[in-house]
Amino acid sequence: MPPTPHDLVARFGSPLYVYDLAVVRARARALKDAITWRPFQPLYAVKANPCPAVVKTIAAEGFGIDAVSPGEVALALRCGVPAAKVLYTENNMTDAEQAEALAQGVLINCGSLDRLERVGRAGGKEASVRFNPDVGAGAHEKICTAGPLTKFGVHYTQVDQVLAIERATGINVVGCHMHIGSGILDADVYAKAMTVIFDVAAKLPNLRFVDVGGGIGIPYRADQRHVDLRALGAKASELMSAFCTRYGRPLELRLEPGRFLVAEAGTLLTTVTSVKTNPDTAEAKGRTYVGCDTGFNHLVRVAMYDAYHRIDNLSHPEAAPREVDVVGNICESGDVFARARTLPMPQLGDLLALRDAGAYGMAMASTYNTRPLPAEVVVDGDDVRVARPRTSVDALLDAYVW
Ligand code: LLP
Repeated sequence: MPPTPHDLVARFGSPLYVYDLAVVRARARALKDAITWRPFQPLYAVKANPCPAVVKTIAAEGFGIDAVSPGEVALALRCGVPAAKVLYTENNMTDAEQAEALAQGVLINCGSLDRLERVGRAGGKEASVRFNPDVGAGAHEKICTAGPLTKFGVHYTQVDQVLAIERATGINVVGCHMHIGSGILDADVYAKAMTVIFDVAAKLPNLRFVDVGGGIGIPYRADQRHVDLRALGAKASELMSAFCTRYGRPLELRLEPGRFLVAEAGTLLTTVTSVKTNPDTAEAKGRTYVGCDTGFNHLVRVAMYDAYHRIDNLSHPEAAPREVDVVGNICESGDVFARARTLPMPQLGDLLALRDAGAYGMAMASTYNTRPLPAEVVVDGDDVRVARPRTSVDALLDAYVW
């Protein structure tokens, strides 16, 4: 029998991150099935959830890794992913980081002309270039990664300068990359950006692949729907096919989702530690605050992006519904998981599930307020494993020089 959330919290404590590897695997397979173009190399944007058990599950489905730091490259290599399947999408990397990546044999996806030039001058034989197609998208301004206001990529109109660096340094630009934003539920915007990126790619003579990035959203809200993956896959395959005919030879297509693979597999379990209702006056408005034993230190998405996470009352799902504010234990008024959310009325000690927390949850967690990080547990059918034990206050304090 698969463990219940109550079993897991009894064993591993609260708050607790739980990842269901069967869901991760199913998402990875759905993505592979949706893309008919061959050769196809999917990558996992490991920043979404670097838990090794999750990474290995995705790598076992044939995915490579999109890494954005030396730490993520090291993680990928330790998970057994060969360097040839790691793409290092750099962003203001240092020359020392560049030297390390070259020594590791990892392909650098350059986000600026000066970086491409330095990779070439350092003797790098190959590189990829991230272009900004000037078509941005995303669920929030802070997660839109293309267009005039973003720091990412080489502007798509500067492809001639890329060619000049190829000639001057002898480096081959083997990859043409874009990533336009995150949390996209509209397949048309991808198609628009892909059209721009294929026009850029047509000018680059030495390509092995075109990488159209990540960004596939998930339905966080009950009224949202999944992206029509088959339609998206068919469109990408069709555009790729037309492009390759024009290019004169078939190239590899790459996609590098993060959120799509892991968000829905993750839940942050938390226990209700306080319930209070203000007086029902004009000022206090009779609001009810449901306080939890976690906060934006463990899941920052609501505070940072006004994100929405479904919340379930696992202890009393049948309780009468009430409108409440679900808040955390961090000393900031922005530490709110949900405002005016109708839930089966939580009581002290109830277990709540913050859903779709598998992407950018623990990955962005901090120890603010000197609170330790929660444990992470992976579930795979009946199998339950601790992926990372809860940290302790002592461990936090011992990190200082006393
Ligand atoms: N590739 C590159 C180069 C990226 O920068 C990203 C995400 C991805 C792929 C994966 O994007 P995804 O498929 O997960 O949307 N912390 C924010 C999301 C930031 C995404 C940053 N880059 C959030 O919690 O929504």
